[in-house]
Amino acid sequence: MNKPSYEEILNIQKKINIVDIVRDYVPLVQKGKNYFGICPFHDDHNPSMSVSNEKQMYKCFVCGAAGNVFNFVKDYNKISYYEAVQEVANKVGINIKIDKNLKTQENKFQKQYDIYDISNKFYQNNLNTNLGKIARSYLKDRLINEEIIKHFEIGLSFNDNNLTKLLKNKGFDDDLLVKSGICVKNNNSIYDIYRDRIMFPLWDINGKTIGFSGRIYEGNDSSKYINTMETDIFKKGSLLYNYHNAREFVLKENKLIIVEGFMDVIRLYSIGVYNVVASMGTAITKEQISLIRKITNNVVLMFDGDSAGEKATNSFIEVSKDVDFDISVVRLEEDLDPDDYIIKKGKEKMIYHLNNAKSLIDYKLNKEKKNLDINNGEEVSRFINKIAPSLSKINDDIALEVEINKLAKMIGLSVDLIKSRIKKDVQINKKSDRIVIRPTRKGENKYNKASKLILFNMIRHNNLILYYYNNLCYLPDEIDRNLANEIVLFYKKYESFNINDFIVYLEDKNNLINRLVEIDELNYSENYTMEEIDSYFKTIKEYSNKNQIEELKKKLKNETNDVVRKELAKKIEVLIKECK
Ligand code: CTP
Ligand code: MN
Repeated sequence: MNKPSYEEILNIQKKINIVDIVRDYVPLVQKGKNYFGICPFHDDHNPSMSVSNEKQMYKCFVCGAAGNVFNFVKDYNKISYYEAVQEVANKVGINIKIDKNLKTQENKFQKQYDIYDISNKFYQNNLNTNLGKIARSYLKDRLINEEIIKHFEIGLSFNDNNLTKLLKNKGFDDDLLVKSGICVKNNNSIYDIYRDRIMFPLWDINGKTIGFSGRIYEGNDSSKYINTMETDIFKKGSLLYNYHNAREFVLKENKLIIVEGFMDVIRLYSIGVYNVVASMGTAITKEQISLIRKITNNVVLMFDGDSAGEKATNSFIEVSKDVDFDISVVRLEEDLDPDDYIIKKGKEKMIYHLNNAKSLIDYKLNKEKKNLDINNGEEVSRFINKIAPSLSKINDDIALEVEINKLAKMIGLSVDLIKSRIKKDVQINKKSDRIVIRPTRKGENKYNKASKLILFNMIRHNNLILYYYNNLCYLPDEIDRNLANEIVLFYKKYESFNINDFIVYLEDKNNLINRLVEIDELNYSENYTMEEIDSYFKTIKEYSNKNQIEELKKKLKNETNDVVRKELAKKIEVLIKECK
């Protein structure tokens, strides 16, 4: 099959439920008829996206992203529209194959992605050659087996320039190879950057390779890991190692474990713990927090057991303090990182730690009480102030009671006193429980409003579609105008109109779909009279006349030929009359 037809796509849509599909990407909570989740299309920390079972559409109240299941899958995975159709079809067991040239969405970084793909395969192949023997035995010593090597696409770079040669043979130009961080140029010659390192590909959140981290493995005493330099598509602070693999497990378990290093991710994978991502040794960023919040609100911090790991833990807690995370913390003994811990103490002990992660409160209590003198009133007061915000975040009454009791016992104060102290914070917290406010539409004037009213009525009362076509056929706003044109075309072709089918027809025209859904949800009256419709048409005509008059006046001003001047003046006169 080359390209699935409109009818075929409609058929696929009928067999699926958007809620089931979106759920594979974003956790959804049912509220009334609709489902809500964190919007993946803007930096969202509260559930702003609704998914409607009834309408089979999604819509974000904040950024306005909207559409059907195909639009969602397309934009989430940043793939082409037909690839999204194919993916959705496959999920419900319908096998469609689409033409290759429908797949590649024009992407301005496509060549760079290609370079990383080729390099990734090249490195993986190196590891299997005779010369890869030492690296293979290094990995074996670290208890990394074949399956793990395959899963994490681990490879090897040699001390030669064969990758550069290969890429040049494939026609990539030097500048791009250098810009991609795979090659380096020196005196007009171009060389491989990575030499004698075990190569770990780094992926973006959709699983595309966007760089590498190369680890030394024998007699090489330079930097332990070398990462690809930052490029337009590789920013260490905007990715989390293993995010795309972990996602489905995080959604299933509603829990994400965060570690520092990718060896920790790999080792946890080897004992069957899959809902893990790594921060890759840098301080966590707001962007990474957002990525996490999009798939869960339940995080377990398991950074290295040393003091750097403690710092990373505290920094995560600080950076995410405004996000409604349920944080728990694992602190490993003997300064071990999760990888070493599993090797040294075994799988069972690690699982025990994960199942008994400390609540954030307990972690803070533990940390603070070390240097707390409970006989010093001021210190105790300050201490409670520090703890109060975390207590107030606890939504579960029983859990809160337990924590308060613990705290009271620890510092020898009454439960009531602590409760009254945290009450203030609890109230503040409740107040900030978010109410979704629709952004006020910018540039709303009477022409704009008339335009929206016309479209609103056209999509409800299909007789008005041809009425619009015959009597107006013009809207000042470009998106509104294109939308109206498409509605007319659709109606003429299929002799009926419904919004779901129309969205399938629009395919990936996001701006039209977003506008359509926005207008469909406006709070206008469902009934209309022809007088009203005519008055909206009149408003639009007035607008277009006004514009034409302006333009003609400008022309008139610059025109020297008397005959032409007269013609222009006459035209203006007619238009002015029409306005009245
Ligand atoms: N890291 C890095 N550059 C370095 C050292 C570390 O980018 N020179 C990053 C890597 O992403 C690494 C993470 O920081 O995964 C954690 O560093 P570290 O704890 O030193 O690495 P380990 O995970 O312990 O790696 P290994 O067990 O191979 O020593
Ligand atoms: Mn380690």
